[in-house]
Amino acid sequence: MYILAPSLLAADFNILGQQIRETEESGAQYLHIDVMDGIFVPSISFGMPLIASIRDTSRQFFDVHLMIVNPERYIKEFVECGADGITFHLEAVGDAEKIIEEIHAAGVKVGISIKPGTPIEKVYPYLNNVETVLVMSVEPGFGGQPFIPESYGRIRKLRDYIDEHHYPVKIEVDGGVGKKNVREVIEAGADICVAGSAVFKKRSVSENIAYFMDAFKEKE
Ligand code: DX5
Ligand code: ZN
Repeated sequence: MYILAPSLLAADFNILGQQIRETEESGAQYLHIDVMDGIFVPSISFGMPLIASIRDTSRQFFDVHLMIVNPERYIKEFVECGADGITFHLEAVGDAEKIIEEIHAAGVKVGISIKPGTPIEKVYPYLNNVETVLVMSVEPGFGGQPFIPESYGRIRKLRDYIDEHHYPVKIEVDGGVGKKNVREVIEAGADICVAGSAVFKKRSVSENIAYFMDAFKEKE
């Protein structure tokens, strides 16, 4: 089963609650929440108060993507404000094994993420211990960027490696995923598609999501 994770970064914050409910009613099981600190990435987004205030709006899986340095500082806080899963960047930490343990001990699922320039093999040592690998298909930091085509090969390589070793881990793809390429992205091996602009811009949220759901059904 494929999962759509709309990225809040592209939502209209003036009507945020309404838009979140629309994503849930349209079948998006996850909500992707991008936290940026202005250091790991150039931009700053939002943090715990926003997550806490939307928690009661939805029963979706809150998929918190930390683009911050030293993410171990805030695990407890993100769980308390409503995260169901915490994804951190391998490039942002020293001892990944320790953080994986800490996130699990806090009672939520763990994702590890890598930027487009980091060799995909870097995640191999952790595949037995995490629930998700988030493959960035744009440089992290901003929504609305074009999908980097080399990502297909990276997703495929990871898919093959995971299948060969029967690791119970999902592949999530983040950045530039939309109507034009969602079929290729799942064909390459993604289980979870993050989409910001493609969900919240142009047509209505429900029409946009219906397109993803149709593409998923064709493949299932
Ligand atoms: C980028 C974020 C992405 C982004 C996706 O740093 O991690 O989740 O919001 O947005 P789109 O789908 O517009 O590329
Ligand atoms: Zn993200």
